[in-house]
Amino acid sequence: MADTYWNHNVHYHPVVLDAVPDGCRAALDVGCGDGLLAARLAARAETVTGVDRSPEMVRLAGKRQEGNLTFLAGDYRDGTLLDEGSYDFVSAVAVIHHAPFDDAIDRLVRLLAPGGRLVVVGLAHDRTLLDRLISVCAVPANLLAARRHGGERSPADMPVEDPIMNWREVRRATAQVLPGRRYRRRLLWRYTLVWDKPVRTCESGP
Ligand SMILES: C[S@@+](CC[C@H](N)C(=O)[O-])C[C@H]1O[C@@H](n2cnc3c(N)ncnc32)[C@H](O)[C@@H]1O
Repeated sequence: MADTYWNHNVHYHPVVLDAVPDGCRAALDVGCGDGLLAARLAARAETVTGVDRSPEMVRLAGKRQEGNLTFLAGDYRDGTLLDEGSYDFVSAVAVIHHAPFDDAIDRLVRLLAPGGRLVVVGLAHDRTLLDRLISVCAVPANLLAARRHGGERSPADMPVEDPIMNWREVRRATAQVLPGRRYRRRLLWRYTLVWDKPVRTCESGP
């Protein structure tokens, strides 16, 4: 396994890393795959946990485990694996479409500490002509970027899924469940979303 490589998910790692708040104590990367992003986050947070339900991915990620970086095998939606309300920063790259949308978002929000930040890099599928035009424009951009980075690579056996929701559905659903989120459709077949969990919620009372 290469220590580093380039693909459409890795391309947006800088968006994730730039969103880590100063003074971040505990960061969590869900669906961490082989741990490349978690390893990068380790320079920005006091502790970083990566979690993935693929034993093979956790085995690969374990090769990066050192210092403030820990990897866990399991499902991030499993209520016994991770402590709710304890992460200042949660990232999810190319993972929330592996589960029903509401389940995934609900769990990510619960994992965040009050005032914590969620960053999602996600996939959606094309529905409209405009969607398809944007996707076609990505082809030459992708070729240039891949050439610049020596080709596109991913770890063998990394679990992947096709997205069920289209761009419009994702934009609307995230606006509804994550009020105030900053959403951007990006060129290389991904969107990014940044959301800050309120310090006080209705549930926490006056
Ligand atoms: C497409 S890969 C992306 C991996 C990594 N985030 C990246 O960008 O390279 C999706 C990963 O999410 C993991 N995954 C999917 N659903 C999960 C869940 N409910 N809990 C933990 N890991 C999950 C898969 O095993 C897989 O490694």
